[in-house]
Amino acid sequence: MSVTNEISPDTPTAWWRDAAIYQVYIRSFADGNGDGIGDLAGVRAHLPYLADLGIDAIWFCPWYPSPMDDGGYDVSDFRDIEPTFGTLAEAELLIAEAHELGIRIIIDIVPNHASDEHPWFKAALAAGPGSPERERFWFRPGRGENGELPPNDWQSRFGGPAWTRVADGEWFLHLYSSRQPDFNWTSPEVHAEFIDILKFWFDRGIDGFRIDVADGLIKDPALPDVNGLTVGPLPFSDMDGVHEVYRAWRKISDSYPGERIFVGEMWLPDPIRFARYLRPDEMHSAFNFDFLSCPWEAKRLREVIQSSMDSHSLVGAPPTWVLSNHDVTRHVTRYGRSGDTGFEFADRRHGTPVDRDLGTRRARAAALLTMALPGGVYVYQGEELGLWEIEDIPDELRQDPVFERTKHADPGRDGCRVPIPWGGTKPPFSFGTGGTWLPQPQDWAAYTAEAEAADPDSMLSLYRKALHIRRDEPALGDGEMSWVVSLADVVAFSRDPGFTCMVNLSAEPVPLPRHESIILASGPLQGDHLPPDTAVWLRTF
Ligand code: GLC
Repeated sequence: MSVTNEISPDTPTAWWRDAAIYQVYIRSFADGNGDGIGDLAGVRAHLPYLADLGIDAIWFCPWYPSPMDDGGYDVSDFRDIEPTFGTLAEAELLIAEAHELGIRIIIDIVPNHASDEHPWFKAALAAGPGSPERERFWFRPGRGENGELPPNDWQSRFGGPAWTRVADGEWFLHLYSSRQPDFNWTSPEVHAEFIDILKFWFDRGIDGFRIDVADGLIKDPALPDVNGLTVGPLPFSDMDGVHEVYRAWRKISDSYPGERIFVGEMWLPDPIRFARYLRPDEMHSAFNFDFLSCPWEAKRLREVIQSSMDSHSLVGAPPTWVLSNHDVTRHVTRYGRSGDTGFEFADRRHGTPVDRDLGTRRARAAALLTMALPGGVYVYQGEELGLWEIEDIPDELRQDPVFERTKHADPGRDGCRVPIPWGGTKPPFSFGTGGTWLPQPQDWAAYTAEAEAADPDSMLSLYRKALHIRRDEPALGDGEMSWVVSLADVVAFSRDPGFTCMVNLSAEPVPLPRHESIILASGPLQGDHLPPDTAVWLRTF
């Protein structure tokens, strides 16, 4: 495969075409100063763990100063580090230390909105209606006799109206929480500001950006009602003008030495529209949410894999394979649910019975599946330990604004953000020396990195082996695949030279195809049969 683990900024390697990228949600990763909240010191202390794991890059969720209304996706200063996480100087050290270990650094950028504590928003509030300061956001008078109704019917993705009224009577737009005012990208100042922010961080050595809500920047300036529509052409998602933004950004990344990249977050229903963001002069790659959302069913998985390969090949971009992140129910839980094992925001199926052993077996198989497919792969912190969704967080401890804004109808995303268990036998499991900002379950004693490192059959050992094999195996990473004719409930494909991946999603053991040797399996085999919910990598002739 083309990825080397040496960072040589002057030699292009197309490292991003098949990188294994580990997502760090800083507040929950590791706490270096004992305040119960993860921080950069905690990350620095665990860099050797990540190097051993065999990843190529880290993607950091937002590390900027933030009131943390939305876990840092409410940014008040795009050119500094959140004080509870550390300092800018520490971030620079971290970047250098990671590079020393051959790990690249990708950081989140949040161009759709700011925090209500961002100086521009404060200035807009102070300057009043009609001011140039308000032009950087979407301020509008209300409807109704006295402007008491929102300017249109758009709903926040976190529940409730997408508009909030300020003291002077105007309303401002926020597609997320009322503490996240949307930037107005018709303003040249907004464009210029973000170009400058990109340079600020590229100058500090980062290797790329993950672009938050990448499809959402451009709004139809007429702000038309959507009359309840949630899919299809929407006046705040996937508007054609958004591509100009990324073309301008690509020129910036290309002007830096090495290969600096953009990874887009777009939840779009149409794979062809999605691929437009990955044209050669726009982003390098994007998260494959169709794959993430797909239930554990062979036919559906084959379809989504094929459609991902097809849409990406239209533009020559590598697909990515994603199982979990900080917004979705952890996949051990999803795959163990009775009934539907897919994911959708509209219904997290919170509290549906879960067979965790089954979910874990499937998660192990899914890991081998994703790491064998052509393209890049993402690992969300804790998935390598086999952590599951914590569904019984007491209501009064829930922090995600989704919980309140949906009037508790949606539990929100705290259950996948519980601090990582590193070692020891009781909470905080060496997360830090203080407590943890969300409670950890006692059952995690057997799932700490320390306990799993000592167990050759643990999820951690499987991830380590698989990631290292993936890096060294010429057939894996970027490239092509071909389906292997197989039973209806089996997903099997081969890659050149001499590699086959087979996943059994049926209820019965299935015979292995002819092979030279077994490279790795997600669980014990039954002689020459692959048991249900198990994946195998085979060396073929
Ligand atoms: C993205 C992030 C999510 C955040 C939202 C608003 O979807 O992944 O965590 O709440 O954008 O910034």
